[in-house]
Amino acid sequence: MKAVTLRREQVYSGNLLLVNARHPLRQSMTPDQLRPLSGKTESRPSQVCLERKTALVLETLFATIGSSSSLVPVSGFRTRQEQEDLYASSLKEHGKAFTESYVAAPGHSEHETGLAIDLALNQEEIDFLRPYFPRDGICGRFRSKAASYGFVERYREGKEALTGIAPEPWHFRYVGLPHASVMDANGFCLEEYLDYLRDFPYEGRHLQVHVENKTFELFYKKAEEDLTRLELPGYLPFQVSGDNREGFIFTLWR
Ligand code: DAL
Ligand code: ZN
Repeated sequence: MKAVTLRREQVYSGNLLLVNARHPLRQSMTPDQLRPLSGKTESRPSQVCLERKTALVLETLFATIGSSSSLVPVSGFRTRQEQEDLYASSLKEHGKAFTESYVAAPGHSEHETGLAIDLALNQEEIDFLRPYFPRDGICGRFRSKAASYGFVERYREGKEALTGIAPEPWHFRYVGLPHASVMDANGFCLEEYLDYLRDFPYEGRHLQVHVENKTFELFYKKAEEDLTRLELPGYLPFQVSGDNREGFIFTLWR
């Protein structure tokens, strides 16, 4: 067995962070954790950055579907100040109802994690707040591959009461593997998925999932006040993410 010790603040970092109106981002990203997306930039409003691994995986996905310049990364990582400016300008331009539907309050945006990307089909006019990202063509190809690369469409129709955000078919969130596939297969939004995982505690029955010929074991561990200690099978690779609430999700490669 292998002993693992986690500090309380690790609850606030990882792929599976829940950031919404009820759960603010607690740790801000530092420049060394971010990476600009490579590729053509002339059609982008600015250089778009993402959390390093998220950027690499997204670039791999773009290469796999051969999207080249037909998909435009419109908005990735945003600083708190950028989210504040966006919120204020949307309020002024579009009013309260629109802004509350489509722009997260500063400190509550997934864009501040570097794990979220807004994508547009490359067209002459690109709407920064509500980019056009249809379900067919190259955008459909992106969607069909997204989960196997760890991305989910974060704000789906029918989940507004849980996410607090209107449907945003352009906003993709990196959660990693196998989480994106499990969420897709069950129709879970992130709020539902994290609640579901709580039913598989470290101390109880773990969740076994089979995705693309691989078997994963998942469980939830509630964080202790200070240090959280647990033991894992020594020979299995694993990943741990905080949920930005009060616990950790462990992913073991079986
Ligand atoms: N458009 C999403 C909700 C954001 O502003 O984070
Ligand atoms: Zn977005």
